[in-house]
Amino acid sequence: MPAQMNWTEIDVQAEAILKTMSLKQKVGQTCQITVEGILRFNPDGTLPLPLQVNGEELSEAVQTYKVGSILNAPGRALPRTEWLKLIQAIHAPYVKKEIDIPILYGVDAIHGANYVLGATLFPQEIGLAATFNVDLARQFGEVTAVETRSSGVPWNFSPVLDLGRQPLWSRFFETLGEDPKLASVLGASIVKGYQGDLNQSKLGPDRVLACMKHFVGYSASASGRDRTPAIVSPRDLTELYLVPFKSAVEAGALTVMINSASLNGMPGHINSHLITDVLKNKWGFKGFAVTDWEDILFLDRVHQVAASHKDAIAMAINAGIDLSMVPLNPQYKEYCRLLEELVLEGGVPMARLDDAVKRILRVKLAAGLFDVPSKKNKTVPITLQSESAVLAAKQAVSESLTLLKNEHSVLPLKPNSSILVLGQAAADRRFWNGAWTHTWQGRDSSYFSTDISLLKEWQQRAQTQQGKVDYLVGSSWSESTGIPNEGAGLTPQNQKSIESADVCVVFVSEWPGTEKPGDEENPFVTQNQMDLVHELKAAGKRVVVVLMLGRPKLLGSILDDADAIVHAYLPGEHFTQPFLDKIYGSADFSGRLPFTYPRYPGRWEHYDHANSETIAKDNSGNGYNPLFDFGFGLSYATWSVDASSISADTLRSADTVWLEVRLRHNADRPCQVTVPVFGSRRNLPIAQRGKYLIDFQKKWVPQGNSALFRFPLSVSQFEFSDYNGNWTQARGPIRLDVFNSTLNVYLEP
Ligand code: GLC
Repeated sequence: MPAQMNWTEIDVQAEAILKTMSLKQKVGQTCQITVEGILRFNPDGTLPLPLQVNGEELSEAVQTYKVGSILNAPGRALPRTEWLKLIQAIHAPYVKKEIDIPILYGVDAIHGANYVLGATLFPQEIGLAATFNVDLARQFGEVTAVETRSSGVPWNFSPVLDLGRQPLWSRFFETLGEDPKLASVLGASIVKGYQGDLNQSKLGPDRVLACMKHFVGYSASASGRDRTPAIVSPRDLTELYLVPFKSAVEAGALTVMINSASLNGMPGHINSHLITDVLKNKWGFKGFAVTDWEDILFLDRVHQVAASHKDAIAMAINAGIDLSMVPLNPQYKEYCRLLEELVLEGGVPMARLDDAVKRILRVKLAAGLFDVPSKKNKTVPITLQSESAVLAAKQAVSESLTLLKNEHSVLPLKPNSSILVLGQAAADRRFWNGAWTHTWQGRDSSYFSTDISLLKEWQQRAQTQQGKVDYLVGSSWSESTGIPNEGAGLTPQNQKSIESADVCVVFVSEWPGTEKPGDEENPFVTQNQMDLVHELKAAGKRVVVVLMLGRPKLLGSILDDADAIVHAYLPGEHFTQPFLDKIYGSADFSGRLPFTYPRYPGRWEHYDHANSETIAKDNSGNGYNPLFDFGFGLSYATWSVDASSISADTLRSADTVWLEVRLRHNADRPCQVTVPVFGSRRNLPIAQRGKYLIDFQKKWVPQGNSALFRFPLSVSQFEFSDYNGNWTQARGPIRLDVFNSTLNVYLEP
């Protein structure tokens, strides 16, 4: 059931406001501009601090054109004090009763409040997904909400609920991985963290509006390049891409951002079937749909489905768009003028405009924006990076780190060993955070605080254990172009450091980037990084590779050259201590891959593949052969199944059958473990996926003891989509795989 807002009361208020509004006011409410349009800049284009709001531009936007929303960071992260002044200046026309409806401000805070200087920076979503930890996802949302709202901003363009199934895609790191169940459960948890439980009450003073994005199919780009066509069958749309969004609607998400690309030939912004019929009418989504950047203009300029900007506006608004992120000046003025003309000419029915405005008013009322801030309820004063916030971020890093390979017991490192650390990422935190960090592409290192250094902390720790840590950059990136510098980056002078090291730890990364600037032609890890690992191996060294990658790049020679491989994803700022705990063995790994890791450039395959993909060239059954499977992750501890059972052989509609598995490990300390349950259906009228994730749990298991994992099963978990994308009840034999146990149940719905 969707989270229970008191929509009746809010609808009454929204209706009452709507009745008082002029056409110009209604049109303005559907218009969003970017903050740069109301700020003064230095002659050289840089942003002066303290910020200077351009009063004339602001007044023209909100008073003359009645614009209802503003977005974005002004090209860079700001101190919280600057944010508060900016938001206060933007809210002032409403407080002074110069306008009747408050401005809604939105920003991207996708791995913490990444545009607030000094905020807690979590792992990017792909790393959060590797934790398989629902409660951590909620904490991620709560901390991000508190720190974002403490800057005065009430709306966060997050979570990304697109599925990471195209390894080339520049925004793979922004997703919760390839699986709809994992993305649904964690995505819903993030939404609840952002918004709190919206039962009856309005958004809390330290909560933000969520924005599930990008609805829908954006990540399924056939070419791997951002904003290029996605071709998704009705079956995959139903069983994969729509699932996390429906889950977020049920979790109460109050806004949605639409897919900029085309899906099956139709640009996302004119897909009235998905936006209006499915999202709003069928699923009961009560919030509003916002476009992505300039996406109405792009219906004409890029997709070329509209003959003019005016045509494009009519197509998008009539398809169900409620708020247009126009967002540039003077384009927003043309948008307002053209939409007003369209309504007067009947090109956009007044009823559609009223519906859009009412949805926007509902959300502004639910966010408490109309409550003029009295002296008493000013923004909640908080400490950024509070102890609890940093603890949550460290826990997210700790539970995301995934051990993919560990031969010759090279890990855990011996405390007194001599370590040589290599790779630019070890000393450059842009590679820890990725894009959407202080700046859009995350390539500006000037905003990072100076109090975090992996190498310094590592050296200090090693010295207390009679160990040693040295550092060589080795392979690196060209600062001006982001292109990797040729070669391994080693010189004859480095030979001594290499020879004296017991173990070399090489950080392998990719240049930060997202969206179009993050488009990537090379599916492999860069050659210079492969060369570096190869040269160290050739020198007879033990090599540990740490992957700081936002998308699964092919490893090439690294796979064989590395004795151990740890995936760190994009871990954010609190990487050091959890990482050192893991590689020295004072804590065990519990991270699991939230995606299938490809082995070959010509084969993007997924764990939920069809049976036909298992047929190999030699007709054997091992044709499905990724480098690492979805859900894969090693640990120091060895796990075993004490017992597994299912409470009945047959599952009928009204039943709940319990699947139980009891696990134990051999470590002399408590260990965490994720237990996924996979199901597989067959003998059905559509070729089924080999297996798919039904449920998962993660728990601590005490030492020398075991832990029971219990999973309720009901027939609805075994529904599948027919050819036309309609959910259909399965029947017949179901295989259940849990850890290394296989159980069976017969469905008789
Ligand atoms: C960008 C992104 C979207 C983001 C928006 C506002 O183009 O596609 O995810 O929320 O613009 O920054």
